[in-house]
Amino acid sequence: MSIQTTSIDTALEEYVASLRAAGLDAPWTRPGPLIAPKASAVQARVWRWRDLEPLVRRTPEFMKPGRGAERRIVRLDNPGVPERTSTHTISVAVQYLLPGEVAPAHRHSPNAVRFMLHGEGAYTTVEGDKFVMRRGDLVITPSLTWHDHGNEGSGPVLWTDGLDSPLVRYLENLTFQPFPGETQPVRTGPPAHHWHFPWADAHAALLRRAETEYDPYDDVLMEYLDPTTGRSVVPSFGCYLQLLRPGVRTRAHRETSSAVYHVVQGAGFTEIDGARYEWGEGDFFAIPPRAAHAHGNEGGAPVILYALQDVPLMRALGLYRMEPA
Ligand SMILES: [Fe+2]
Ligand SMILES: [Fe+2]
Repeated sequence: MSIQTTSIDTALEEYVASLRAAGLDAPWTRPGPLIAPKASAVQARVWRWRDLEPLVRRTPEFMKPGRGAERRIVRLDNPGVPERTSTHTISVAVQYLLPGEVAPAHRHSPNAVRFMLHGEGAYTTVEGDKFVMRRGDLVITPSLTWHDHGNEGSGPVLWTDGLDSPLVRYLENLTFQPFPGETQPVRTGPPAHHWHFPWADAHAALLRRAETEYDPYDDVLMEYLDPTTGRSVVPSFGCYLQLLRPGVRTRAHRETSSAVYHVVQGAGFTEIDGARYEWGEGDFFAIPPRAAHAHGNEGGAPVILYALQDVPLMRALGLYRMEPA
């Protein structure tokens, strides 16, 4: 009997070697199920503004924006994720420009969004349309659109960038081109596209929604949508504002999507897979796919969060699921 098993094993080994030699693979020749579950590499974590900000403000000691490095950014690093981006599909960074500085014009295949944090005088020019960025403004630079940034103010400016670059890299289509010249020509007249979402409008819409529309899992959630198409502002991830009313504790849910949050206003906590993550104004936090999560605001004032979530991507693939946890 044992002789027979050995002869089968030997025959199988020879068969596997033949498959390999022919550039083929038969997964049933290895132990385990055909489709094995895989844990997410994305870790739940918080990046504190009090740690981040002083390190961002030191960056001019070491680099100046220009051709090559292009942007003076500090990226949120999720150590478990390939290439150490914020989640496996979303890269979030904080960008810093001193008065008079320009981040030169370029374009690339990843979609990008900017959410203004601090300082006056920042602008982003996208395909010839110059958008002044005030605190809380969102500016979209879609895939392969020329864009440059600058600071025309008297103090430093900071904003947060969100890109789908990890996804685009995985899809093996990461491309980049410098513009011939530091800045692109600026057009006059109304912008050709709806790529600028001023804070005043978005905030007012969020407060209107907070009067009537509550979600048990997110409390008050509003996605930025392209008004001409009704779609997400970029195809791969949605940009959201979320308001947690005083005293609200949301129900826990799991989603197949991942999220990176930034705290615009207030303080609270998010429970992720049973662990409590406290956060305050300026902090960022990441939620891995399929992790149970619930948000809480124990204070007396509303909390406002800005979030990037790869929900549109998962929907497009037929993979978006949400379930109570
Ligand atoms: Fe860029
Ligand atoms: Fe969620």
